[in-house]
Amino acid sequence: MNYHGGDIYQYKEEKTDFSANINPLGIPEHFRKVLFEDLSCLTRYPDRQYRKLKASIRSYLQLDQEDHVVLGNGAIEVIYKTIQALPVKRVLIACPTFSEYERAARMAGIPVREEVLYDRKGKLDGPGLMNLLEEKDLVILCNPNNPTGTLTLKEELLALSEIIKERQGYLLIDETFIEFTKDYPETSIIDAREENLIVIRALTKYFGMPGVRLGYGVFHQKELAREVEERMEPWHINSIADLAGQCVLHDRTYQEATRKWILEERAFFMKELEKLTTFTFLPTQSNFILVNSKRHKAEKIQEVLLEAGLLIRLPIGFKGLSDYAFRIAIKDRASNRKLLAELEKIEGSFSRNQENRTNLT
Ligand SMILES: Cc1ncc(COP(=O)(O)O)c(C=O)c1O
Repeated sequence: MNYHGGDIYQYKEEKTDFSANINPLGIPEHFRKVLFEDLSCLTRYPDRQYRKLKASIRSYLQLDQEDHVVLGNGAIEVIYKTIQALPVKRVLIACPTFSEYERAARMAGIPVREEVLYDRKGKLDGPGLMNLLEEKDLVILCNPNNPTGTLTLKEELLALSEIIKERQGYLLIDETFIEFTKDYPETSIIDAREENLIVIRALTKYFGMPGVRLGYGVFHQKELAREVEERMEPWHINSIADLAGQCVLHDRTYQEATRKWILEERAFFMKELEKLTTFTFLPTQSNFILVNSKRHKAEKIQEVLLEAGLLIRLPIGFKGLSDYAFRIAIKDRASNRKLLAELEKIEGSFSRNQENRTNLT
């Protein structure tokens, strides 16, 4: 199994989890109400074709006849099954990024090329990526990217998609965090309708429900969508996830509250982080921030923060990140303040230790 954030279960005492990037507004109220008013949905099998759920996704994304939705038990199931189904010779991955793409390709028995293609500012090296491109490659990009938080513009992705198409390849864009970007929905490539393009999303991050396990992919080739769907087990989406999708995708109140929160809190967090000189960070378009420490390894910082009840994400599994990098989620104001105060203390203790000629690392 790959290393991931969110493993709060290994600690006896409760931790505030900055290691997983989940909307802190939590379960949308409307869904909570609907679920508890009628738990009888659990006494029936879900619709095997998930008609109402798919209709909700289609309406949320304003899809048309040419677009085909494939559901998954989290985005992860769509990623794994899509990689298995595509007629490609190799998978090409721009790093540092989500480690499951590589694992999914390896499990499917497809050769993988992973290359560090995000620079120090978190910008994707498109020409570098195209230099590596071969016939029938599946190129996987996460946008905005995890862990850099940076966004590649739609026009650039479309240009890449054209070249990939000429070489009979596919482009898979993981848009798990796209709804957090400032100019969403303009930032999304979902309306591009290129035949070789697959876009994957989930309820996991934006709707604050990693436990529900609901993701989906949008395909523009009917046959391919069917190929992926054929690989799914029957009833792979449980009734609660089915109901969740039907509720939250129509919940404008929750979506507006989330927008307000992310715009305010992201600006606040970055402004405060800028005041700390021991740490640098990448300006993010997502709900997490990649931080680099000039002094201490991330493991040491994690150790100190755990004492204060805060859990951060180590760089483990992100090819191309140094041992000094760590990722933190943007949460509610009180939690964010607490983390910032602890980082400030670490900075302060470093200065003092410098004076006392003792070493914290
Ligand atoms: C970029 C990215 N894609 C997909 C996933 C998995 O999403 P899900 O929990 O919906 O399977 C994650 C989880 O961390 C992620 O970071």
